[in-house]
Amino acid sequence: MLEEIKKLNAEISTAIANIKSAEDLENFRLEYLVKKGKVQVLFDKLKDVPKEEKPAIGKDLNVLRTFAEAEFKRLKEEYEIKAETTADFDLTLPGRTGFTGTFHPVQQIKRKMVDIFESMGFAVVEGPDIEDGYHNFDALNFAPDHPARDMQDTFFLKTGKDHLLRTHTSPVQIRVMKSQKPPIRCIMPGRVYRNEAISARSLAEFHQIEGLYIDKKVSLAELKGTMMVFARRMYGEDSKFRFRPSYFPFTEPSAEMDINCYICGGAGCRICKHSGWLEIVGCGMVHPNVLSECGIDPEVYSGYAFGFGIERVSLLMTGIDDIRHFYDNDVRVLKQF
Ligand code: PHE
Repeated sequence: MLEEIKKLNAEISTAIANIKSAEDLENFRLEYLVKKGKVQVLFDKLKDVPKEEKPAIGKDLNVLRTFAEAEFKRLKEEYEIKAETTADFDLTLPGRTGFTGTFHPVQQIKRKMVDIFESMGFAVVEGPDIEDGYHNFDALNFAPDHPARDMQDTFFLKTGKDHLLRTHTSPVQIRVMKSQKPPIRCIMPGRVYRNEAISARSLAEFHQIEGLYIDKKVSLAELKGTMMVFARRMYGEDSKFRFRPSYFPFTEPSAEMDINCYICGGAGCRICKHSGWLEIVGCGMVHPNVLSECGIDPEVYSGYAFGFGIERVSLLMTGIDDIRHFYDNDVRVLKQF
């Protein structure tokens, strides 16, 4: 019996040395390690061995089986790793990267607008979102009974101190004129709030870029020229725009500039209220009352101001036909820009 164990031990050792593939390994298992395999056959013979020899022979058999099984396990793992690393493993594939965000389309347009005005010499100034009635209305020459002061149009805060959410970026003009001496040339981007019904063309919270230029002998022609340069840089050399007379309490004369509706190409759609034009900026010559209120002599200085609606400009640039898409935050919409 001991002889047989020795023989099988030698046989298994050579068999292991000769294993060259996963298939060889499987044949090894079938020959030695299964229920009817050569190792088990020896175990079966144990019952015929004289009682006193049993412990020693049993021990040898166990050593043999443990050895064969351990070698089988080791080789099996080796072949599994080999299979994993050789099969379909393409080192040239790009690694997995995380999702990187992009700037929101409204931010992208704002940056482009700021770039254009900075290149024309305008500095960027910011003001507070929470304003008071003085800066938002009074100093801007709003009459005491002006409808914009109504609760229906303006969000007032319950601080008991005439606080409100600014309805436009024009109050920043007042803050700038009171703190700087002319010449003044700046733009004032920011968020504004209006108590309005939300629709395809208006929101209760949106963004504006205010502009202000004060110096000696500033003329309406300069305002028009600046607006035209902006429109051409923003929308292209052949973009169509028009000026219309308008009214704002803080400018005189006042105007609005419209851009040919990009969405319908001028044919008329719900965004341009079927007119073919979309208003993007209100502007005018700063009212003498406003200059005086800020301590600037209207006999010496003049200036122009303008206020763009950034979402309006963005609609035209992106071709989005509903302003609400900007704030639904549906990634499928936003990631296109
Ligand atoms: N503040 C005005 C608005 O919100 C726009 C404007 C700004 C008009 C500056 C004239 C001058 O509609």
